[in-house]
Amino acid sequence: MSNDQTSGQAASKKTGTVERFTSTGFILAAIGSSVGLGNMWKFPYITGKHGGAAFFLLFIICLIVVGLPILLAEMTIGRGGRGNASASFFNLTGKKYWGAFGLLSILTAFMIMSYYAVVAGWTLHYTVESFTGLLFQEGSDYKEKFLSFASGYWPIFWQAVVMLVTGWVIAKGVSGGIEKFNKILIPGFLIILLILMFRSLTLPGAAAGVSFFLKPDFSKLDAESALVALGHAFFSLSLGMGCMLTYGSYVEKRQSLGTATLAIGFGDLVYAFIAGLVIFPTVFSYGLQPGEGVGLAFMALPAAFSQMPFGFFFGGLFFLLLAIAALTSAISILEVPVAYAMHKWQWSRKKSAVILSILCFLVGVPSGLSVGGVLGDFHPGGKSIFDWMDFVTSYVLMPFGGLVVTLFTGYAWKKAGEEAGLKGFWYKAWMFLLRVVAPILIVCVFLHSVGIIKFS
Ligand code: PHE
Repeated sequence: MSNDQTSGQAASKKTGTVERFTSTGFILAAIGSSVGLGNMWKFPYITGKHGGAAFFLLFIICLIVVGLPILLAEMTIGRGGRGNASASFFNLTGKKYWGAFGLLSILTAFMIMSYYAVVAGWTLHYTVESFTGLLFQEGSDYKEKFLSFASGYWPIFWQAVVMLVTGWVIAKGVSGGIEKFNKILIPGFLIILLILMFRSLTLPGAAAGVSFFLKPDFSKLDAESALVALGHAFFSLSLGMGCMLTYGSYVEKRQSLGTATLAIGFGDLVYAFIAGLVIFPTVFSYGLQPGEGVGLAFMALPAAFSQMPFGFFFGGLFFLLLAIAALTSAISILEVPVAYAMHKWQWSRKKSAVILSILCFLVGVPSGLSVGGVLGDFHPGGKSIFDWMDFVTSYVLMPFGGLVVTLFTGYAWKKAGEEAGLKGFWYKAWMFLLRVVAPILIVCVFLHSVGIIKFS
C-alpha cells in the first residue's frame, strides 16, 4: 500500500491525480460537500417564504434542469482530465485559457473557505455552549448574546479550530482523510437529524411550523422565486468553484457518474427537507418568529431550545449537526486549492494542507472581525468585509465558474459524453441543457443578483 502510494505520488507529477475514492466513499464525500449550511438554514427559510411545497417543487425542477447537468459536467471534467480545477480543463483541450478560467474557481474556493470557516466556527462555539448549558440562562436575550459573542475575539479562536480540523483531515489524504471523515460523519449526521425531527414534530403546536414550511401556495411563485430557487440549487450542490470537479478527479473509471449525480442530488434534497421539518416546528411551537440565516440559527432557535425540556441536549445536537454540515463542506472547499498546490508546486499533501490552512485563516480573520467586532463599523461600499466576501463569491464568481463549466462541456470538449457514459437521448438532453438552458439561466441569476434585473 505505502509502496503504491509512493510510486503513485511520483507518477502524479506527470500524469495527474492518483489518489482514489471508493465508490460509496465518493458519494458520501460529495453529499458531505453539498449538504452544508445552505441546506440547514437557507433552504428551509426560502421555502417557507416563497410558497412552501410550491417552491419545493420549483426547486426540484431547478435541480433537475440546471443543477444536476452541471454537477455531472463538473465530475466528468475532473475524471476525464484527472487534474485539479485548473489542470483538468487544460489536460482535456491543451488550451491555456481554459486552464486560466479554472484557476479563477480555485481562487473562489480559497475566498469562500476563508469566511465559511468563520461561520463554521460559530457553530462549534454554540455546540459547546449548548451542551455545557452555558448558552441557556434565565432571561437571556439571544440576539444580544450572539452579537456580544460575534463582536469579541472568540470567533477567531473557533475559526482557527475549524481550519485546524479541516487541514488535518485533508493532510491525511483522499481515502485516509476525506473519505474516512465523511463515512463516519454523514451517517451520524442522518441519525442526529432524525432524532431532532422526531423531537420537533412531537412538540405541541408543531403543525403550524410544518404548515409554514410546506403548505403549497402557488400564488407566491413568481419570476423572483424561480431565480432564488435556481441560485440555491447551484449553491447547494457546491457548483461553480471546482469542488465537485476536484472530487471527480479521484473517482474510479468504473463508477457510473450518472448514478452518482442522482444520488448526490437526492441526498441534498432529503437533508434539506428534513432540516425544514426540524427547524420550523421547533420555532413555531414556542411562538417565535423565524428569522433568516444567522437570525434563525443563532437567535430564534436558541430561544426555542431554552424553553424545551432537555433543551441544552437537543440544542447541542442541533448545533453539532450544523458543525458537521459545515465541516464536511469546508473539507471539500479547501481540497480545491490543496489539489492545485500539490500539482503546481509539487508540494506534498501535508505541506499544502498546512500552508493553505494558515493562509485561509489569515485571510479570513478580517471577515471574522467584521460581524460586530473591531471591523464591525467598517463598511466600504455599504457592506461589511464578511458580506463582501459572501457577495463576490456567491453572486459573481460562482455563477461565472458555473458558466465556464457549461460552455466548456457543451462546446469546447467534444468527448464529454463518452466520459460521462451518456448516449442517445440522455446525451442529447444533457447537451441541450448545458449548451442553451443552463447558460441563459445562469446569466439571468447573475443579473438578478447584482441588481440589474429587478422584479417588483
Ligand atoms: N453546498 C454547501 C451548502 O449547501 C455550500 C458549499 C458551496 C460547499 C460551495 C462547497 C462549495 O451549504
